[in-house]
Amino acid sequence: MRKTWWKEGIVYQLYPRSFMDSNGDGIGDLRGILGRLDYIASLGVDIVWLNPVYASPNKDNGYDISDYENVMEEFGSLADFDALLAGFHARGIKVVMDLVVNHSSSEHPWFRESRSSKTSPKRDWYIWKPGLGPGKPPSPPNNWKACFTGPAWEFDPGTEEYYLHLFAVEQPDLNWENPAVRQAVFAMMRRWFERGIDGFRMDVITLLSKDPSYRNLRPEEGMFSPTAPYVYGPRLHEFIRQMRQEALSGFDIMTVGEAPGTTVEKALELVGEDRGELDMLFQFELMGIDHTDGDKWRQRPISLVEMKSVIEGWQLGLAGRAWNSNYFMNHDQPRSVSRFGDDGAYRSESAKALLLLNLSLCGTPYIYQGEELGMANVAFPSIKDYRDLDTLNYHKEALAAGAGEAKVMASIHYMSRDNARTPMQWSAGKNAGFTQGEPWIGLNPDYRTVNVEAEEADPASVLHFTRSLTKFRKAHPCLVYGSFELLAREDPRLFAFIREGEGERLLVEVNFSGQATAGVAAGKSPRLIFSNGGAGGGSTPAMLGPWEARISALN
Ligand code: NOJ
Repeated sequence: MRKTWWKEGIVYQLYPRSFMDSNGDGIGDLRGILGRLDYIASLGVDIVWLNPVYASPNKDNGYDISDYENVMEEFGSLADFDALLAGFHARGIKVVMDLVVNHSSSEHPWFRESRSSKTSPKRDWYIWKPGLGPGKPPSPPNNWKACFTGPAWEFDPGTEEYYLHLFAVEQPDLNWENPAVRQAVFAMMRRWFERGIDGFRMDVITLLSKDPSYRNLRPEEGMFSPTAPYVYGPRLHEFIRQMRQEALSGFDIMTVGEAPGTTVEKALELVGEDRGELDMLFQFELMGIDHTDGDKWRQRPISLVEMKSVIEGWQLGLAGRAWNSNYFMNHDQPRSVSRFGDDGAYRSESAKALLLLNLSLCGTPYIYQGEELGMANVAFPSIKDYRDLDTLNYHKEALAAGAGEAKVMASIHYMSRDNARTPMQWSAGKNAGFTQGEPWIGLNPDYRTVNVEAEEADPASVLHFTRSLTKFRKAHPCLVYGSFELLAREDPRLFAFIREGEGERLLVEVNFSGQATAGVAAGKSPRLIFSNGGAGGGSTPAMLGPWEARISALN
């Protein structure tokens, strides 16, 4: 496979709203990040992905953009952005921005103009359809649902038509069928590249092309089923190839598409190296592992055997043909240590174990802010403490449907996106050192013990472990380019595999439990070369202690 910087790099995801506030308004900002560049560089990461920083009314925390070429006021200015970019570049770190072009904000001038009249020159920049039937208003054009609850169609009383929004009402879908829309987006992308950014993470990129029949979603299809009429629609690949030619080519940048509805087969169409489309994608199969029938609010326990099989499917499915991006969390998901690890007795060990696993797989690893500290889920007592519209909508809908408050809150405590969005924990001081003002969302009360300052002082912390781990991966290109072979497939506690290539053969063993468990007997005397130390002993060459994770050389 072709070798490139974005395959060898480690990505750190920054959620600016919650990272560091520099001006006391309670909201993280670009100058806040600027003050923490040395911290970020100290982690040994090579690329940062910034969640949206564009002008936005913030119905969906920046995923509703009202100006693609300006910075959100709360976050600072374009000058701050340029300073930040220069600061990262000076430290050898590349910067990837979010690209949110399936939809804009309803406050974007394009949409305002589009909704102003049926004859507006921008009418066709969004997806407008007449309603059905004689009703006033008529019924929506079809049965599509919006991701954050309710129908995907909103009736506009001014022009008496519906517009499509696969997400919130304030996030109207752009009409990619219109060549003028594509040209405007491509030109905007080029201007960001010319400004110096190093790539885009592309929001829900698999939803750009809608089936022109606008047929109903079938009863057996979930919102993001691979066959849903707006998932991998008929012109998706054509649009992406045109984007490649007109916006991406000529720049040394990386692209990673957020890809709802992607199977391994579909992934090969979008990111296969021979396809000339995108470099990488985020699949959702692993993130769906504790959902019931595609519903994230109906959770089920995670089976390690299933988790191994999902990861193996992606490792082998893309091997030699496309490149994985590996993540155990992001700003839309619960904290990884709470979901896949044990945030109680084995918090530090399991947080390290997950990081070790992530950085030992084939593909580009993504670490989300706070993951390097072992930050855990928060359990705010009241729905009033939550800010995420998805969480608030679920709470309202579930109660209206008769569910009990306690059960609904338990589900929110586990799955809410706000778990990932509580402020970064810098110190045990006021507001964890995140802001001098009133933080926009509450802190996780555990900041008094889990924070950067405390972990800097503790050589056994998750933070110090993260730094040695990134260094270790860099010193072992086998972990980047080597092959993957799963071992002990049916073992309910052990995640073990071999990576081989670049002159090395490495055995990775991770004990996903609080009990000592047998490792794999992998041929001749493995030589231990990296470990999280496990917890409470029990570690021998044949056994792993609770949540022990280790890498051994087999040659
Ligand atoms: C995916 C983003 O990650 C999420 O935060 C956002 O709400 C939706 N796309 C809509 O843009």
